[in-house]
Amino acid sequence: MISINKEKCIGCELCVHDCQCSDIKIENEKAVPLNNVCLSCGHCVAICPQNAVSLNEYNMQEIIDYNKDSFHINPENVLNAIKFRRSARNFKNVPVEKGMLEKIVEAGRFTPSGGNRQPLSFIVVRDKMDVLTKTTLDVLNDMGCKYEPDMDDPLDSQRKRYATMWKMMHQQYANKGIDLLFFHAPAMIIILSDKNISLNPLIDGGLAASNMQTMADASGLGVCFNGFFTFASDDEKIRSLLNISDSKIVVTSLLLGYTDNRYHRTVPRKEAEINWF
Ligand SMILES: Cc1cc2nc3c(=O)[nH]c(=O)nc-3n(C[C@H](O)[C@H](O)[C@H](O)COP(=O)(O)O)c2cc1C
Ligand code: SF4
Ligand code: SF4
Repeated sequence: MISINKEKCIGCELCVHDCQCSDIKIENEKAVPLNNVCLSCGHCVAICPQNAVSLNEYNMQEIIDYNKDSFHINPENVLNAIKFRRSARNFKNVPVEKGMLEKIVEAGRFTPSGGNRQPLSFIVVRDKMDVLTKTTLDVLNDMGCKYEPDMDDPLDSQRKRYATMWKMMHQQYANKGIDLLFFHAPAMIIILSDKNISLNPLIDGGLAASNMQTMADASGLGVCFNGFFTFASDDEKIRSLLNISDSKIVVTSLLLGYTDNRYHRTVPRKEAEINWF
């Protein structure tokens, strides 16, 4: 719910025109909230030149005034950063600072979500990486052992390859302590999305993950998405270990840590398939 300070409001109508829900009207040259279908998106807060609007359900103290020096990003640098980032699979045995992990979560928290439903939650793993690694490898090994060919499945060869990998990874960890799953990363952030809150739980989580990756990269950390953990995350052993409730889907996870890898250039990719319409 929004509230508008009548003393501050000058009736400029900017909030009225920027509200996607038409949930503010002008009466006697002052903005009046209707609060019928408000998404709590905060556009009215952000656009008001008088700082007259507030949203009751949020902490308004965390709002930051725009400042070109600290908000502007050069577009060429953005594109170069996207091209230059690489998945890290070689982490130093150095812990990641709690404050840095909190800022990465913050990048996820401020990522747009469909209908502004904000369905995400996060599990930050630091102290119990070992138990999570072992449990996940046990689950993946079981899944690998249960693999059966399905010639009608166009992804069958991929499934077969993964099944073979999971069994091998399990052996490497059990016999030699080599972690080919999480690469001995000192930290991991699991992104969960609540299917009872959002109609787009996977998209919302994926968008947040991408911003979080960019934030981690900008913070000087190595990052790698881990899809194998997502495959394993439906298993009850993982869900109970991490205390994940039924309505939450594990969208993806980010392995995080410092790395010695130094790249000298970007990599090539397929041409974009674009149909101009
Ligand atoms: C997956 C997704 C789907 C969205 N679909 C629509 C849409 O159909 N129409 C629309 O006006 N906004 C859409 N949005 C924008 C959200 O409503 C918006 O991100 C949210 O209200 C927060 O506002 P902000 O992006 O200005 O922070 C979508 C956002 C996401 C992430
Ligand atoms: S928070 Fe968003 S939806 Fe609600 S009144 Fe303001 S602009 Fe409109
Ligand atoms: S943007 Fe601010 S000053 Fe302008 S009408 Fe809305 S509340 Fe009033």
